[in-house]
Amino acid sequence: MCGIVGYVGYREAYPILIKGLHRLEYRGYDSAGLALVNGAGELNVHKCRGKVADLERFTEAKDISGHIGIAHTRWATHGAPNDVNAHPHYSESGSIALIHNGIIENYSVLKDALIQNGYTFKSSTDTEVLVQLIEYVKATNHCSLFEAVQSALKQVVGAYAIAVVEKGNQDEIIAARKSSPMVIGIGEGEYFLASDATPIVEYTDRVVYVNDGEIAVINRNQPLKVVSFDNVESQIDIRKLEMSISQLEKGGYPHFMLKEIHEQPRTIVDCIRGRISPNGDDVVLSGVIANKDKFLQARRIIFVACGTSWHAALIGEHLIEDMCRIPVEVEYASEFRYRNPVIEPGDVVVAVSQSGETADTLAAVELARAQGAFIFGICNVVGSSIARATDSGAYIHVGPEIGVASTKAFTGQVTVMTMIALTLAKEKGTISSERFAEVARGLLELPAKLEKVLGLDEEIRDLSKIFTYARNFIYLGRGYNYPAALEGALKLKEISYIHAEGYPAAEMKHGPIALIDSEMPVVVIATPDNIYEKTVSNIQEIKARGGKIIAVVAEGDTVVRGIADYCIEVPVAVECLMPLVASVPLQLLAYYIAVNKGRDVDQPRNLAKSVTVE
Ligand code: F6R
Repeated sequence: MCGIVGYVGYREAYPILIKGLHRLEYRGYDSAGLALVNGAGELNVHKCRGKVADLERFTEAKDISGHIGIAHTRWATHGAPNDVNAHPHYSESGSIALIHNGIIENYSVLKDALIQNGYTFKSSTDTEVLVQLIEYVKATNHCSLFEAVQSALKQVVGAYAIAVVEKGNQDEIIAARKSSPMVIGIGEGEYFLASDATPIVEYTDRVVYVNDGEIAVINRNQPLKVVSFDNVESQIDIRKLEMSISQLEKGGYPHFMLKEIHEQPRTIVDCIRGRISPNGDDVVLSGVIANKDKFLQARRIIFVACGTSWHAALIGEHLIEDMCRIPVEVEYASEFRYRNPVIEPGDVVVAVSQSGETADTLAAVELARAQGAFIFGICNVVGSSIARATDSGAYIHVGPEIGVASTKAFTGQVTVMTMIALTLAKEKGTISSERFAEVARGLLELPAKLEKVLGLDEEIRDLSKIFTYARNFIYLGRGYNYPAALEGALKLKEISYIHAEGYPAAEMKHGPIALIDSEMPVVVIATPDNIYEKTVSNIQEIKARGGKIIAVVAEGDTVVRGIADYCIEVPVAVECLMPLVASVPLQLLAYYIAVNKGRDVDQPRNLAKSVTVE
């Protein structure tokens, strides 16, 4: 979703801003722009529809000088993606420029009031209202830009991260946030500002995360100052950034998604490092151990998540109910937050989010907290809003995920959920030591198994060519593999734009089987489990109706091989770990079909990596 970059210091701002925008491209956007204050104090705003490369072409013959600037990638919410609606927006007099992530909910009331005061509007965005309001407040109160921003924000309802610069001021950026992330990088005589740390990492590892309801005065001649909307000064908490540049580059792969798929053996190692004893007899997740009573006494555990994280949570439900005998519910965060759910003290809410910034999941966390639940987070991005809003949690430690379609985060989330289930089951005494060791050792062996699956890359690439022009797909699985089927379908639709649906295999005959004909590819996960024979029967039912079956089966399987049109053979793992093994070939299949179709795999149309608006 929208991205923010800012710089103030001694270097030329333009190259830093452009490089930062490129780093943020993964978030998804449809226009880009920047504002610079040059050496003469003039404020230059350049913006256009399209990619950052279009903006670079657009600025070729323009004044791009200056040591201070703000830049933005916009993912359209209010108003079409075009040049005028692109950010930065500037005030009536042209003296203030502003970039904004989020939504100003009361913009139309504010706009009417400003129109009555003689302001005119060029764009159809909510953001332009805010910059005009700041100018109006500044002009009527004869105050500083900082005071004007502080006062204007008191009138605003909504979610935002903003950055503001002013004509004639080459030293200072004013930034503020409410429900939308913002991080400030601290260099020597320079500051960097961004909506996530990726544009900052190559300049400094010292960062400050701005909290909700705070305004930052970022002045290159002064120490960083952060105050609340009510003017209470905040303690500056400088954190060390644990991220490297190589994690943000493709490392020889044509797409981040393929790189991230292939990283999974290593990311699982990172995820379990120090958490599972070498012989598999112990699992230590400190956030769970420290709060074990809350989990063990919980009336129930409620997972809240969206998209891929929701699919991972469905596996978490299965794991925890199966191993720990604690009731679990899995909720779409976007529904949960608005449906007046029953949450009681003693409930444990587990928020699952790769980015840690998903607006709906964050709102679900806030709702659950207000109603007295204990909140546990499973996030990837360290220091993200959800990670900070939860009482405790476990990071998945899979490194930055840049491809919009989530891959390594999914396997990391399921791995953490498996470790949570093992930890709780052991504490509760609901798992035998044999089964505990079998699953824990299964996790230790998982990287090698995923390595083997990745050896199928070429075979899956060849297989994908048969299905490039398919118009629909069905994905089936049962038990632990049902969420993996949902996830396989989501991957395909996200990046190839082919319509795909996931179903529990046995549910087919209750309606969806009507869709089956010789034009319908059906991907079935049919790995060994206690309902394998039943899955085989489901495959027969589809075969009998002419469907084209692509089966993910265990190495050496002969039964399904005799029925399916195509088989992808994967190594066998313990039943509860099979969705981790089975999801990887489905990621590759989706990837190669999308590549065959010439899709923009890393930045699929209409999608954003971090969905910071609801
Ligand atoms: C799918 C995908 C999305 C996200 C969803 C939640 O590939 O990327 O469905 O899973 O937007 O995002 P997080 O996990 O960041 O909360």
